[in-house]
This record gives sequence, structure tokens and C-alpha cells, in this order.
Amino acid sequence: MRISVIGCGYVGLVTGACLAEAGHEVMCTDIDAARIAQLQAGGVPIYEEHLEEVLVSARKAGRISYTSDATEAIRFGDAIFICVGTPPREDGSADLSAIDHVAQQIAAVAQNSKLIVEKSTVPARTGQELNRALEAYSRGGSRRFAVVSNPEFLREGTAVFDFFHPDRIVVGVDDEAAGTAMQSIYEPILEHKFRCPMHQNGCPAEPKAEFLVTTINSAELIKHASNSFLALKISYANVIADLCEKLDGNVEQVTHAMGLDPRIGTQFLKAGLGFGGFCFPKDIQAFIQLAGSVGVDFDILKAAERVNKERIERFLEKVKRALWVVKGKKVAVLGLAFKANTDDIRFSPAIEVIRRLVEEGAQVHTTDPEAMEKAKKILPGVVFHADPYEAVRETHAALVCTEWSLYRNLDWERAGKLMARRLVLDGRNLYSPKKMADLGFEYFSFGRS
Ligand code: UGA
Repeated sequence: MRISVIGCGYVGLVTGACLAEAGHEVMCTDIDAARIAQLQAGGVPIYEEHLEEVLVSARKAGRISYTSDATEAIRFGDAIFICVGTPPREDGSADLSAIDHVAQQIAAVAQNSKLIVEKSTVPARTGQELNRALEAYSRGGSRRFAVVSNPEFLREGTAVFDFFHPDRIVVGVDDEAAGTAMQSIYEPILEHKFRCPMHQNGCPAEPKAEFLVTTINSAELIKHASNSFLALKISYANVIADLCEKLDGNVEQVTHAMGLDPRIGTQFLKAGLGFGGFCFPKDIQAFIQLAGSVGVDFDILKAAERVNKERIERFLEKVKRALWVVKGKKVAVLGLAFKANTDDIRFSPAIEVIRRLVEEGAQVHTTDPEAMEKAKKILPGVVFHADPYEAVRETHAALVCTEWSLYRNLDWERAGKLMARRLVLDGRNLYSPKKMADLGFEYFSFGRS
């Protein structure tokens, strides 16, 4: 099928690349002309594992192209995947102006009927509104736009893997034909008919992904409810970590044992600096807002959000307790991205920690394998190092803020010799407290004595 992708952020690019790799013809567009020029020149504007190789392969096969001309892109596809941003507004609700703008463009220039696939994360009832808007902007013409909600469950950093190995594909539709069309788009994924970049010798046997056809409102709710539930789990684990600190428990032991109960599950119970990124913080705000707008008080989610915001304070309290005076101290921060395997620093706890340390008068030296270029633009007065061992040289403390495996496997014996004081504050619980103590470090993490 011919597919247009509007919006070349990580969701748009991964969706476009993987659908092209799965055999569809894809044309991508974005209002950022520089981004399109970079893609046309063979560049990849974001760091996302396996994305480059999938884009290269799709390009070689002649199945993906890029244009900064939205009209060309809209006219190209039988299905248009809307992957534009829905950033938070002041009150936490999602700003849907980019989606509205795309609807106006589609109505203005499309020459035939199309499937309009809402991939951006949006509050429930956006699909209904999009339907109404498309009808209104089309002024009763003969073209038909079938709106579909197809929420994405892609994690940054493993988005290509997630696209090719989904546990479920959700499509919210108004009519059966739209559901059938979506099934044919995803058929190569469901049937494993693509060249998998991570498994050259064939993908391991796994249960076939469920293809779920729901109403549009349910599909939108599924996305927000899933992200919010995962955020709840993380905040729950973080409160357990606080309790472990007071009651002399070990949060890793507690959450591991909890997670072995299949009703709970082991994932998303890692305590630490809390969740960041452009999905969880904004999605739970938008969900709280949406619930409030229909008279449902989502107290439980508000608490999860509050717990998460307090993680930075908890961490800084530990830093201050350990350093006593922060002003004038040389401090290393390892990690800038909101999590490992991405260069995304949006709502990253590491960035907030650095800002607060700078405000307190610390000299901050930092490093990250992928996110430094983005961070340099927003962190004046901070010194950046490509080599983590250079970042910790002569420092009074090293703070670990992102769980990169590079830091998990750091040679602390070597790092310790370079530091002015052997003090590590671990915001991601990466190391064994005993091993760090054996190496002569003062070591502080979350929920472990
Ligand atoms: C999340 C969801 O996991 C995806 O399913 C969803 O598609 C995506 O949002 C989205 O809405 O687009 P992502 O934001 O990329 O994906 O990252 P996660 O891997 O979910 O991690 C989110 C945050 O939680 C990170 O800051 C991570 O460090 C933190 N986290 C995660 C914890 O603090 N503890 C955990 O146990 C797990």
C-alpha cells in the first residue's frame, strides 16, 4: 500500500522505516525542512537503535522517500499516518493544534478518499473530533476520510524492535472496512514477512501479536491507560524504596520478589530517579486533565506524578547530605538522556539535577554517549566530556543519572583513582553497594542501605 507519514520524529521515522521494510511504499514529510533535507541526504536526525540500517535498506529498495511538500505527501498515500507532536499545554492538557493543522491540509489538498491513521498520542475523543473536523473542512465533498486510531507502544531506544515484535496492535475504527485495511497494512508484521535487523538468522519463536479491533475511543484510552499504569508502577516502586531506606530493607529484593507474581510482573519496578522523557510525564498529565474534564478525579495518578516529581528532591538531599557544602564543589554527572539508548533529553531527570546543582554553585562536568550535542544547547556553564573517566577527574562526587551499560560497566577502580573523593551517588541503582564499599567508595543509591 502507498503510505504517507506526516511528522518525522522518532515515532514517524520508525513507523515509516518499518512499514517500508515490510513492503509498503512510504513517503515522509515534516514541517522542519532542514530535517527533511538531512533525511534526503541519507542522514538520520535522531539516535535510535537499528533505525539507520532500516532506513538505508528501505531507501535502497526504493520504498521510502522524503518531501518537505506536505501536499505531495498527502496526495501520495492511500493511508496517511499522522505522527505529529502533541506537547503539553500550561494546564497539562495535550496541545492538538498540529493535528488540527494536518486535518486542514488533508481536507484542502487530498484528491481522493483516504484512511487517516492517528498515531500521535492523543486524549480519548480526539478521533471523533478529527472526523468532524475533516468533514467540516471538506465542505461536504465526495471524498471520504476514514479515521483510525492506531496507538503506538514503541519505547525510545528499542522502537524498531518494538515495531517488528509487537505484543499487540490496536486499531480503533468506526467501520469494518477501515479495520480490514489496517490489518492488511500490518499483515507483513503479523506474519513476520520482513527482514529483521536484529535477528539475521530468523526471529526467535514468539507468540503471534494480537491484532485488536476496538472503537476509536477505546483505542485512545488503551494508550493513555497503558502509559499511566506503567508510570504508576514506577512511582509505587519508588515509594517502596523510600520505605526500605527508613525500615532498613532492600528495594531490589522486595520488587524482585513482588514481580515474580505473574499478576504483578517484574518490569517497571526499578526504583531511582523516576520517569522522564516526552511520553510518561505528559501523558499522565493529559490523562489526569481528561479525567477531570469529565468529572473523574484521578487521585491515584496525581499521587504517582507527585511521587515522581519528588525523586529529584530525594536525590539532591542525598547529594547535599554527602557533600555537606555543594557550592564550589566539582561534581561529575554521568548520563544526560532520560534513559539509556536514546539521545532524548526531554523531561530528563539528569538535566533537572544538573540545573539544580549549577544553581547551588557546583562546577558540573558531564558526559553521555549520545545526548551531549542536544544538552550543550541548553546547559550553559557546564563542561562536557566525551570520556567518562575525564568527566570524573578531580571531582568530589560522581552522580549516575542514566543507566547506560557503559556506566554500568565502568571501571570504578580506575575512576576512583582519578577522583578527588571516592563518592558515588547512584540515581539508577546500577552497582552493588558491597562492591562499591570494597572499592573504598562512599556509595548512595535508592532504597538500599
Ligand atoms: C513509553 C512506553 O514504555 C511505550 O510503550 C510508549 O509507546 C511510549 O512511552 C510512548 O508513549 O510513546 P519511553 O518513554 O520511550 O516509552 O520509555 P520507557 O522505557 O517506558 O521509560 C520511561 C521512563 O521510565 C524512563 O525515564 C525510565 O528511566 C523510567 N523507568 C522505567 C523507571 O524509572 N523505572 C522502571 O522500572 C522503568
